[in-house]
Amino acid sequence: MTVLKLPSVYKLIELESCGSTNEEARKLAILGEQNYPNGTLIWAKEQTAGRGRRGRVWDSPEGNLYLSLILRPDVSLRKASQLSFVAALALFDALENISEPGHQIKLKWPNDVLLQDKKVAGILLESQADSKEAPAWVILGVGVNVTRFPKNTVFPSTSLSEENRSVSVETTLQAFARSFQRWANSWAQDGFEKIRLNWLERALGLGQKIEVNLETVTLEGIFKDIDKHGALVLDKDGTEHRITAGEVYFLNN
Ligand code: BTN
Repeated sequence: MTVLKLPSVYKLIELESCGSTNEEARKLAILGEQNYPNGTLIWAKEQTAGRGRRGRVWDSPEGNLYLSLILRPDVSLRKASQLSFVAALALFDALENISEPGHQIKLKWPNDVLLQDKKVAGILLESQADSKEAPAWVILGVGVNVTRFPKNTVFPSTSLSEENRSVSVETTLQAFARSFQRWANSWAQDGFEKIRLNWLERALGLGQKIEVNLETVTLEGIFKDIDKHGALVLDKDGTEHRITAGEVYFLNN
């Protein structure tokens, strides 16, 4: 068993099992900064009600990484939402450090991480719904498929071990925690532009034809950019659409 070595900014709460680490983190975050400061990290070996984006279930058997960070950034809610891109870069670096050399890692908008073109990790950022000023807390949830992955998903999934990389959940957690600290410092010091450019460098499908499923419609066009707020810029027959929430699929180009 690996002894965990986390940077001192994190206060670790380790759970054998819980419903959702995001839910645990939310309950603790509202109890206040004094007891649960920025950097409180809730890590569970399994979740019984893991949640994904857009109300989906996140399969959470033992063997994968499930963590949520309580963050208390002193910025508006809109700016705080940039933290999902910060986390995606941190996951990218972490997986690059621990996955098989030569394996392709890519980021998929808004914040999925792909290994060999299949989803290996996801990010779920949650906050107080109605806060216009700086939110008192933001919960950053991260799930990484280390040894298990769901079959029959619309977008294919994989795990580190499926791609021949046998690393422990602990090693994955450490690698993420270290690189998140680096990227979060970069974001705090240099702002979103550096994050945006680095994210674009690692993006799958930039300049290519994509389909984006929105709540009620599907748009097809060229994936042109992400803007200064993190919205996807889609060029549809010469008209730019800025998309803040949706599901991206890559079309044969
Ligand atoms: C996605 O749909 O891609 C986001 C998945 C986020 C899953 C993680 S696992 C830890 C944390 N707790 C949850 O219930 N969800 C997030």
